[in-house]
Amino acid sequence: MDLNQLITISADQLVQAKVAFGHGTLTAQDEAAWLILWQLKLPLDLDLTEDAARLQAQVLALQPSLDVTNISKAQIEACQRLIAQRIETRKPAAYLTHEAWLQGIPFYVDERSIVPRSFIAELIAEGAFDGWLSETSHAFLDLCTGNGSLAVLCAMAYPEIQVTGADISTDALAVAKINVEKHLLTNRIQLVESDGLKGLSQQFDCIICNPPYVCEASMQALPDEYKAEPLLALAGGPDGMDFVRQLFIDLPARMNDKAILVLEIGNEREHFENAFPRLEAVWLDTSAGEDQVLLVTKEALVQAFKA
Ligand SMILES: C[S@@+](CC[C@H](N)C(=O)[O-])C[C@H]1O[C@@H](n2cnc3c(N)ncnc32)[C@H](O)[C@@H]1O
Repeated sequence: MDLNQLITISADQLVQAKVAFGHGTLTAQDEAAWLILWQLKLPLDLDLTEDAARLQAQVLALQPSLDVTNISKAQIEACQRLIAQRIETRKPAAYLTHEAWLQGIPFYVDERSIVPRSFIAELIAEGAFDGWLSETSHAFLDLCTGNGSLAVLCAMAYPEIQVTGADISTDALAVAKINVEKHLLTNRIQLVESDGLKGLSQQFDCIICNPPYVCEASMQALPDEYKAEPLLALAGGPDGMDFVRQLFIDLPARMNDKAILVLEIGNEREHFENAFPRLEAVWLDTSAGEDQVLLVTKEALVQAFKA
């Protein structure tokens, strides 16, 4: 059996078993490729569309003993065990491999924190909110930092800034610490345990936040893969806005005058607009559309909530 056949057979098994995707991949083929390449210690960006000779040439430098045209019995069995584990446990692939990739950057992950997949990552990479920042924007806050991936991506994208990564979960912060150390950013990222903004006294220029925002009805319908993640990371109350409501009350005091908030709200735009009808938000364009992430200025927040 060759490498592509092994991936296709594995993808068919994932489809048959009706596993759910959305934790880094959207299709069975991509999910199978991820797991198989990881198990064979091959890079996830290997070009699988190459003909056999070129594919073997790509692999030779990385895994000299691996024949992609004829995968050994032991290697096939190891791959099949991993696919079976994915099916039986319904855990997202990243919890099995302990690795998640965001914008080409690898992050450690385990069940103490959510699998990182925020659309804010692509906005950071594109410089999508650079127009709202200035040369004096130095203090960033990644509120609800989880495994710290957005804090790390911010620190990488803006070499002059200092980042605070805050989360209520000591478990998540332990995972974030691993990632901050992995990317050698301990001098630029400070991790703080905080319930919302309560544990923070500083003022910030830019706050990014991917909070728990899943509404109650959606929580009831979540596939098992999402139930494998910490409940605290997802559940946002009846309309998904419990965390955001308190945030908007507390935030202006923690913002410098020209500060911005970049907030992810997933599929809850309708709930968001019903909850905050007077708030002037700028919806940012992401690969999933213009209703996942919004930007608000301090001025807009103050205006919307003044008596
Ligand atoms: C959707 S996850 C986002 C994690 C990470 N930023 C990401 O994008 O992958 C939400 C995070 O918010 C944290 N959280 C939940 N309630 C919180 C609160 N009251 N204060 C601070 N963090 C909270 C959870 O522990 C979880 O890590």
